[in-house]
Amino acid sequence: MLVEWTSKLETGVTFVDADHKVLINLLNQVNDCISDNEESTVLGSVLDALVEYTDYHFLREEKMMELSGYSGLETHKTTHRVLSGQVRAVYEDFQASPWNVDPVHVRDFLQSWLVDHIMGSDFAYRDTCLNNAAASDAAGQVGFLGDGVTFNEWEHLRVMLVDDNPNFCRLIRTILRAVGIRNIQIVDNAAEGISRLADRPADVVLCDWVMDDMNGTEFARRVGEMQLPTRVVMLTGYSTDVLKERSSDLMVADYLEKPIKARNLLETISRVAMVVPFAAVGLG
Ligand code: FEO
Repeated sequence: MLVEWTSKLETGVTFVDADHKVLINLLNQVNDCISDNEESTVLGSVLDALVEYTDYHFLREEKMMELSGYSGLETHKTTHRVLSGQVRAVYEDFQASPWNVDPVHVRDFLQSWLVDHIMGSDFAYRDTCLNNAAASDAAGQVGFLGDGVTFNEWEHLRVMLVDDNPNFCRLIRTILRAVGIRNIQIVDNAAEGISRLADRPADVVLCDWVMDDMNGTEFARRVGEMQLPTRVVMLTGYSTDVLKERSSDLMVADYLEKPIKARNLLETISRVAMVVPFAAVGLG
């Protein structure tokens, strides 16, 4: 583990500490993926999530400082812009040349990038913001999804992930938990996913298209036959256009291409979760 969460990193502001834990979790996942040369696609997804969640965290932290009347706001915002640009540059370097990323540089940079900032700049606003609960409550309400997209049912949502890549599963769990989803089942093969669904239903199943024991076509067909109120979202390295053409007759609610984008994943889940599946209305 690159960085371990300790009480020394706690600011005392609930949403800030929760955000920092998500970011540290993502940092550690970058480290894990860099250690495994086979994980280029997963590393792309992790870096994208790190960029997106960093910007989101900065946005609501700045809102809290502004509402609290913190005098160091403008300086802190400038620091945020620099940090945001730096992590985005790491991601863009990776996108341009995935195999030429210097792992030592990325590890060292990301470690100091976050930990030094939390223990320096973030600790400086603690007293001001801890004394203004209304400001931190308001900032904590800022959602992760895009403008105009609201979804308030995360804590009630039941999600299953079927994927045999442990690093990818860890990333998806981090993203789901970041918005408050607690009912998460993760299985590493399709047959177990089918078996579990019979006893412990899920509202949304995220399923890898390519699995050893059963491909995505067969999995979606089997879920459809079970007549469960379950929406299947396929995750794949193939182009979604290719997949839709291949499987237009299947009960697949949506498709997501890997590397996945965290916000796109959550928006897709929220969208399909609000649609009554064909099976539930007897059309499957
Ligand atoms: Fe928690 Fe200023 O970032």
